[in-house]
Amino acid sequence: MKTSSTMPAIEVRATPRHPLGMPPRQFLRDYWQKRPLLIRRMFAGGVDAVAPDDLAGLACEEAALSRIVRRNEKRDRWTLRNGPFRERDFARLPKTHWTLLVQDVDKWDMDVAALLARFTFIPSWRIDDVMVSYATDGGGVGPHVDQYDVFLVQGAGYRRWSIDAQPRAFAPDAFRDDGELKLLRKFSPTHEWLLDPGDALYLPPGVAHDGVAFGECTTYSVGMRAPSRSELLFDFAEFLAEPLTEDDRYVDPDLAPARDSGEIDDAALARVRRALPHFANVEKSTLAHWFGRFITRYRSAQIAAAPGSEIGLPELQRRLPKSTVLRNPFSRFAWRRDGREAELFVAGEALRCPTALARLLAVEREIEGNVLAGLTTNPQALATLKALFDAGHLQLIRRR
Ligand code: SIN
Ligand code: CO
Repeated sequence: MKTSSTMPAIEVRATPRHPLGMPPRQFLRDYWQKRPLLIRRMFAGGVDAVAPDDLAGLACEEAALSRIVRRNEKRDRWTLRNGPFRERDFARLPKTHWTLLVQDVDKWDMDVAALLARFTFIPSWRIDDVMVSYATDGGGVGPHVDQYDVFLVQGAGYRRWSIDAQPRAFAPDAFRDDGELKLLRKFSPTHEWLLDPGDALYLPPGVAHDGVAFGECTTYSVGMRAPSRSELLFDFAEFLAEPLTEDDRYVDPDLAPARDSGEIDDAALARVRRALPHFANVEKSTLAHWFGRFITRYRSAQIAAAPGSEIGLPELQRRLPKSTVLRNPFSRFAWRRDGREAELFVAGEALRCPTALARLLAVEREIEGNVLAGLTTNPQALATLKALFDAGHLQLIRRR
């Protein structure tokens, strides 16, 4: 294969000294989380850790996580069945075009766990499991993308892997909507290889791939784990919150008379920031955007019910001047200055709103419709008002 001097090669051959085909430091620098790599003969002696019958036996255990994926080549369809399976489920399978996948086999089988000795250059807590798949000819799970790095180690037999070497983020509509397998609608491989026993294909997250068995074969997927930032944040917040007692609360002994009682002002935000010292650097606008939503939802005893039908804009404009507008007593309102406009918070929602309108809505529980009509002359203000009627936070009462 022709390679330029700047681009690391996509295919290498392992040596007894370097099972990755290079020192781990070089692999981590050039490939890890960056680009795929095919390592020919990474397991030079082959991998024969688990026999297909033993894998099928494990897939019958209640505690094992197993799946069978069948592929209908003619109709371009894949079907998934989750385990545990019974022996007779296997007897009913066709001769070709299916695969059995079992996760966490390293926890059940010492020989499979022993494969991990090759991966000690990666922190052990970054490694999730070894998933083992046994496939009949033509079997595979279809073109897909994983969120974790994986080493696909070829055990017995041969598998044809196709990949799109460029890691990408896929939009939700990139996936087919015909099942739990999350297969890609469109897959344009840039590389294709037939893996021999003992070869391994490293893929970073976001590299689309498709493996099709060439005859019967077994694949060992050494998969990584990486918590999402959202999981890290939730868990860390829970961890920080755990030792705090119920009486340790937001306090405002420095409270000055409110300029406008519906407003979340800078002094209030500064107190929120003091209550959350771990987030001292978060931007004021982010803090405000969150706090307004949080505090208008906090300890709400009831949630406004939406009326049976939405109000049309012409109807709203016609009825408003002749009506009184009532706020749902359970819907909390607050607002925050945001540039030349305001952000209006209602029961956990945030809406863009002219300041005068936000100010009025956040203070008065009952408002004359003609006053509101005077404040909703622009389309955006009218849309905000309509949203509040449609959600049941406001109600129009005909003036007598
Ligand atoms: C397989 O072993 O068939 C699937 C592994 C993968 O693509 O992640
Ligand atoms: Co995959």
